[in-house]
Amino acid sequence: MCGIVGYVGGKPALDVVMEGLRRLEYRGYDSAGVAVVHVGADGYRLDGRKKAGKLANLEKELSERPLPAATVGLGHTRWATHGGPTDGNAHPHFDSAGRVAVVHNGIIENYAVLRAELTAAGVELRSETDTEVVAHLLAAQFEPSGRDLAEAMRRVCGRLRGAFTLVAVHADAPDVVVGARLNSPLVVGVGDGEAFLCSDVAGFIGHTREAIELGQAQVVEVRRDGVTVTDFAGVQQEARHFHVDWDVKAAEKSGYEHFMLKEIDEQPQAVADTLLGRVSASGKLVLDEMRMSEDELRSVDKIVVIAAGTAFHAGLIAKYAVEHWTRIPVEVELASEFRYRDPILTRDTLVIAISQSGETADTLMALRHAREQHARVLAICNTNGATIPRESDAVVYTHGGPEIAVASTKAFLTQLIACYLVGLYLAQVRGEKYEDEIKALLAQLASAPEKIAETLGRMEPVRELGRALKDEGRVLFLGRHVGFPVALEGALKLKELAYVHAEGFAAGELKHGPIALIEQDLPVVVVVPPPSRPLLHDKIVSNIQEIRARGAKTIVIAQDGDSAVEAYADTLIWVPELPTLLQPLVATVPLQVFACALADAKGLDVDQPRNLAKSVTVE
Ligand code: F6R
Repeated sequence: MCGIVGYVGGKPALDVVMEGLRRLEYRGYDSAGVAVVHVGADGYRLDGRKKAGKLANLEKELSERPLPAATVGLGHTRWATHGGPTDGNAHPHFDSAGRVAVVHNGIIENYAVLRAELTAAGVELRSETDTEVVAHLLAAQFEPSGRDLAEAMRRVCGRLRGAFTLVAVHADAPDVVVGARLNSPLVVGVGDGEAFLCSDVAGFIGHTREAIELGQAQVVEVRRDGVTVTDFAGVQQEARHFHVDWDVKAAEKSGYEHFMLKEIDEQPQAVADTLLGRVSASGKLVLDEMRMSEDELRSVDKIVVIAAGTAFHAGLIAKYAVEHWTRIPVEVELASEFRYRDPILTRDTLVIAISQSGETADTLMALRHAREQHARVLAICNTNGATIPRESDAVVYTHGGPEIAVASTKAFLTQLIACYLVGLYLAQVRGEKYEDEIKALLAQLASAPEKIAETLGRMEPVRELGRALKDEGRVLFLGRHVGFPVALEGALKLKELAYVHAEGFAAGELKHGPIALIEQDLPVVVVVPPPSRPLLHDKIVSNIQEIRARGAKTIVIAQDGDSAVEAYADTLIWVPELPTLLQPLVATVPLQVFACALADAKGLDVDQPRNLAKSVTVE
């Protein structure tokens, strides 16, 4: 949420910052702005431009009113919290003298008190944001801090409550960019004679793959020749370096019209990469990022999965598989609800936090609550070094590569893979399954990339269907067993991308109320479990007949050769055979493609749906 870029080096700062903002725009697109420190007639000066709306508006503004050449600058792309998405509320925010520029992600909870204090001191605030107070406070602290911007930042941070990432420049400290973070992401990029401060590595991946992770409550000062990290008290901290294992191509559209289309197509590879290296020479499952002992895993008596949105749906599917394989009870809880209901957690509870970004505030806060209650936490995450894996006892990384489209696709399938691996690993450690049973399941998982690729090869009729239904205002999704979370995920994709009122239901619940929604020609997507589970399968075939009898237009997703459903489907979408528990790996794909095609046909921005942003770092 909100993309931040700070740069100091030898290149044209504005080009570097704008390129970074283009790569980070998925984090928010309500407004955008930049500022540069440049040499003016009377010494160093600070100048900026900012515009409401997408980055394109700022680009236009910059072409009409260019900024002077500079090698130090910062920029911001905003998801609005305090104050509407106007030019005035866009970041950067400046102090009254125009010497300090600040960009911010997060919420400063005590901003009203600080604002009142500044107003009482005669400062005129020009925006409705919580951020602007920081610019004025930094300006006030600069001289008392010995004109040391990092020290001024530390002093200001000591006064702030809430969650924030801040990046600032000062015209009187023209060779440094300073950042601070508390419960909000910030990463340092280290280049040759240059350095970057960005919300995530995508912001600097075009320039360097060398990075530094920052811990909580730290201030960082970057210069052309080095990086200094301290805590808020000024005590120097060790900088934790890491190498980014993907390159700039992964963050580009590579000929695709939308990132989402590219990411849907990348799913076979992402799943294969997430499975890679998990089986030892002797055929045993190994999770080498698992920092919990086998004894600890054997003592687990309950699992609680916490996650949000699409990751929550992955958790719902995990419940079916993990309970079946391990016989450990699994609860799945929306992270945003978890800590408010006083959950029962003990040292023997294993909490699994699923998050693509590793920065989702709801999930992070739920995780912290779990740890306070002495539960163990295992993170499933796609982002190396993000806060959620850093604060967990164990991590299983998904290797999906960067996900840039706001709607999650490849993250979902790779999260499922990680959940399956964790379930099988627990079964292996606890002796709940024989070795050959685990091997057989792993072999089925190993076939998933090929099956997903096969599914993708059959998607033209699904795209056609999406285009044909572009004027629909409502679509329902039904499923049973693991097909139920798949239905929820299909509905979520359609809501967020196409702004269609879509709902997912457990097919068995239909008769308990939702069937009243069925009317003539209402499109209803039904996820049918494989016929190898006749109890489940036959029930859903009856459900399809019930809705068809009431006029619904049925769109049925069924396994190859499932002739029993043919008679009741207005549109039939075949998916390759996989065992029931693994079927979501293929059944979800048509739903992603359908939502994307429908949104595209409506002329909507598939990668950046309205009101949304990637990596939701506020609660
Ligand atoms: C939906 C979507 C969101 C995320 C959710 C959690 O397409 O992308 O629902 O799944 O915000 O995000 P992470 O996984 O980063 O914690």
